[in-house]
Amino acid sequence: MDKVKEYIEKNKNKFLNELFELLRIPSISAKSEHKKDILSCAKLLKDHLEVNDFENCEICKTNGHPIVYGEKIVDHELPTVLVYGHYDVQPIDPVELWDSSPFEPQIKKTQIHPEGAIFARGACDDKGQIFMHIKAFEILNKNGGFPCNVKVMIEGEEEIGSDNLEIFIEKNQKKLECDIILVSDTGMIDKKTPSITIGLRGMTYMELELIGPNRDLHSGHYGGSVINPINELSRIINHLHDNQNKVTIPGFYNDVIEYSKPERKKMESIPFSEIDYAKSVGLNNPSGEDGYSSIERRSIRPCLDVNGIWGGYTEEGSKTVIPSKAFAKISMRLVPNQKWRKISKQFSDYINKIASPNVTVKVTEHHGGEPYLTSTESKAYKSASDAYKDVFKKEPIPTRDGGSIPIIAQFEKTLKSKTILMGFGLDSDAIHSPNEHFGVSNFLNGIETITKFYHHYTK
Ligand code: BES
Ligand code: MN
Ligand code: MN
Repeated sequence: MDKVKEYIEKNKNKFLNELFELLRIPSISAKSEHKKDILSCAKLLKDHLEVNDFENCEICKTNGHPIVYGEKIVDHELPTVLVYGHYDVQPIDPVELWDSSPFEPQIKKTQIHPEGAIFARGACDDKGQIFMHIKAFEILNKNGGFPCNVKVMIEGEEEIGSDNLEIFIEKNQKKLECDIILVSDTGMIDKKTPSITIGLRGMTYMELELIGPNRDLHSGHYGGSVINPINELSRIINHLHDNQNKVTIPGFYNDVIEYSKPERKKMESIPFSEIDYAKSVGLNNPSGEDGYSSIERRSIRPCLDVNGIWGGYTEEGSKTVIPSKAFAKISMRLVPNQKWRKISKQFSDYINKIASPNVTVKVTEHHGGEPYLTSTESKAYKSASDAYKDVFKKEPIPTRDGGSIPIIAQFEKTLKSKTILMGFGLDSDAIHSPNEHFGVSNFLNGIETITKFYHHYTK
């Protein structure tokens, strides 16, 4: 057995126990009540970097949650890899749907992970995945030392838009200078089919508030004679797609790259079943923009979704009321070459145009980020590809993911460095959902693949 495999085999229980400690901290970035947890999570990660001989380790304060930074500079002549990840996690609601407590990690067998999977919020997104890098550092450090320079930056606000990280990288361009950025915060096709993510969608996240009457009204007394903001909000939302499921916002598709038939055919070479895809989430059929496959709909096509909608009476029983206000949170996933600020403006203009003059409309922007695309021709991509081949005995397939990591496009713009996305999660890992988990073998294979990346990259 080779040295790396052997080290992982010997230490796998230690690795899992250490990860469990990290997973026990409820570092939910969206909730201010978890500020302390966020800080203890940052501290624990800093300790892990120090234990692996990283230097200049610090917890960098921001206007929001802190960023953990550390570096191992072995030789200025050698290339520098910047590793990025996030230690914040999504909220846990609806908590009653978790089979075990989200912050008490447990290993349970599943159909897809017969060897066991780690169940906890953040197991896959992204504590489990950033921890693979930390364990790869341990292996490198204990087996001949780091073969190149490594900088690590782990943030606590990815799940809420990375606003403060954007400021941090603007201010610290020199410190973060690197040849390539390495990130594990995406997925792979399936357990045996490795893939490297070459594209991510961008996004713009908006909130709508509609104000009708100046107070909640009796729905009999007033019903039918005054505007109901929830009715109006539903009408507006209904107007955002046409009957071919295209987004109706004027100009929305103007900058979208259209691909030729052969290019589209090539993307379809990924093993994929439309029906299994729908069935895996309890649906009979996939659905979306006419004329595109599911893979296309979630990679090369933009979309618009209501993420939440509320207003009026939603508690027990019934109350007859015309609400004064109605709200919705709406996100748009964007593809190259759409620009999120432009889309955000088109969205606001359109809402204001189609809304009834009898409601006051407030459109606010939460956050946004540009889409990302990279090539398969770089030395770093080839090194990653070779590393996957070593571990999975198969060449990884380049794929485009539907999710977003907005800071990746920002890295390219500010730091002028490209990113390699080596993700080891699966669609079925339920990230952002109840019962999030991460396969033990995905975790261990990830550690091995990342370690091998360094060997190939510095060969
Ligand atoms: N790790 C995900 C993004 C992801 C998941 C990309 C799976 C590709 C495949 C990340 O933590 C995330 O959830 N991002 C948010 C964006 C953010 C601005 C809230 C997303 O995509 O909703
Ligand atoms: Mn993530
Ligand atoms: Mn996430």
